[in-house]
Formats: sequence, C-alpha cells, structure tokens
Amino acid sequence: MTPAELSHADLRLEVGGGVATITLDRPGVRNAQRPRMWAGLARILDELDESVRVVVLRGAGGTFSAGLDLSLLDPAQPDEEGNFVATLALDDRAIIDQIDVFQRPFAMLADPRFITVAVVEGHAIGAGFQLALCCDLRIATDDARFCMKEPALGLVPDLVGTKPLVAAVGYARALEICATARTVAGTEAGEIGLAQVVVPAAELDAALAATVHALTAHPHGAVSATKALLQAAPARSLDDQRLAERTAQVARFRDLAAAFAPAAGE
Ligand code: ACO
Repeated sequence: MTPAELSHADLRLEVGGGVATITLDRPGVRNAQRPRMWAGLARILDELDESVRVVVLRGAGGTFSAGLDLSLLDPAQPDEEGNFVATLALDDRAIIDQIDVFQRPFAMLADPRFITVAVVEGHAIGAGFQLALCCDLRIATDDARFCMKEPALGLVPDLVGTKPLVAAVGYARALEICATARTVAGTEAGEIGLAQVVVPAAELDAALAATVHALTAHPHGAVSATKALLQAAPARSLDDQRLAERTAQVARFRDLAAAFAPAAGE
C-alpha cells in the first residue's frame, strides 16, 4: 500500500527482520475503528511477503483501540463510508454479507503463515477487544483495560472475537465477561489466560522485543505448521489429529532433507 493509502486507512506499517508492525493510527479518537481501517488491514495482511513471520498489532498514543467509531452509529453524523444506521434499510442477506466483509481482516489474523501479537496498553474495547482476541498472543500492560462493550449497546460481538475468547478463558468466564460488559484489567487478563505476557507499562517494549525474538528463533516452516496443527486440534478427533500430525511431519522431513541434501555436482 502507498503511504497515502495507509494514511487513508488510519494505519502505519513497518516491515523488517521478518516482523511486520501494524499501528492503528487515530490517537485523537483512541484508535476508533471504521471500515476503511478494516479494508486497509485486510490489504496489508494479504500483501505481506513470505518472509514475514510475526505480525505485531498495536495502537498509537498509548491505547490499543476504543472499538468501533461510535459516530457510525449516529444517524445525525453521516460518514463518507456509510452510516451503520443506513444498513438497516438493507435486507437481512445484504447485512450478513456486509458484516462478512468487515470480519475478513479479523479472521485473516489466524493465518498460519505468521504469528500475530497484539500489544495492548490503555483500552481494548468492543471491536478493539475483538481485534486483540483475533491475534494469537496478547502482551498487555498491567493497567490495560479490556471490555466487551457490545452487549451493553444491544449488540453481539460480531468481529470474530467470540471463538478466541472462549478458547482463551473458557465458556463460563467468556459469558461472564460479555454479559456483564465489565472491564478486565491487564493483571486479571494474565491470570485468566487472556494475555500471555503482562508487564508494567515501562517494560512493554522490552517484553515485546523479547517475545518477538523468541517467536522468530526457530525454523519458520516448523512454527507455521505447528500453529496450523494447534489451531485445528479442538475441532478434530484424536485420530484425525494424529493423522494431521503425521502428514505435517512428512512435509517437515522433506523440507529438512532438501535443506541438508548436497547441492548437485558436489
Ligand atoms: N468512537 C469515536 N470516538 C471516540 C471513541 C469511539 N469509540 N472513543 C473515544 N472517542 C473520542 C472521544 O469522543 C473524544 O473525542 P473529542 O476529543 O472530540 O471529545 C476522544 O476520542 C478522546 O476520548 P476521551 O473519552 O476523552 O478519552 P479518555 O482517555 O478519557 O477515555 C475511553 C477513553 C475510555 C476509550 C472512552 O473514550 C470511551 O469509553 N470511548 C467509547 C468506547 C466504546 O463504547 N466503544 C464502542 C464499543 S462497541 C464496538 O466496538 C462494536
């Protein structure tokens, strides 16, 4: 994407050393999300080259994201990309198709080609919480604040966050967090498995660097194939998972053999 396209999408992108860092860049409104940001995110993820092993997602200005741009729910404030209230004029199928498009970048974060890491400081509310949940790992400050606000607004979380939330904390805790729309502090997020690393704000960048270093230390193919195995494990029978392990290992053996094979003519 060109710098102008990134700026239009309210995103920043840095790529180097096998790591792509995507920054939600609307600090003036706490990185509130709108469709142009989701479309930009989908394009970035689509266009990442094969060398990228880790995708870091973070927010500008000391907060992750305050969720959906609430002006989109205000009929008095039409947005250039369409006020969500206008969506009510569509038939059910069209609304479902529209949400499908919005969900796409959230789902793309599960791609086994790379490991995705959300860096959560400040607030992760609603769509912000769901975006963090769609990443494989969450590194949070101890005073970060996660909140699934949607039920309080009469909505359901529909940006791919429900499945990873249940996977992270279990059904009962997920229901309690969503139904009450309460705020979960970073410290608690660490205790219940919502965040994998929790540190004081001053240590956030060092913790991120250490995590990224560890995630990029081992062969890319093995790490990606392992991510794919683990992702699919809950939905498979034991026998199907064993088969998937065997099949993946054959591909690993072939890769390793090719890497150690003497070059032709040696
Ligand atoms: N959409 C649009 N603008 C927002 C949003 C949002 N989600 N969140 C914050 N802003 C704007 C505020 O209106 C304010 O604008 P202004 O400077 O023009 O007045 C600016 O960002 C700063 O916000 P403050 O409330 O002053 O910042 P503070 O740090 O005190 O609070 C907080 C941050 C807690 C995130 C608060 O702004 C908030 O509760 N925002 C709304 C969160 C929300 O309900 N999101 C929707 C969830 S549901 C979903 O995502 C589907």
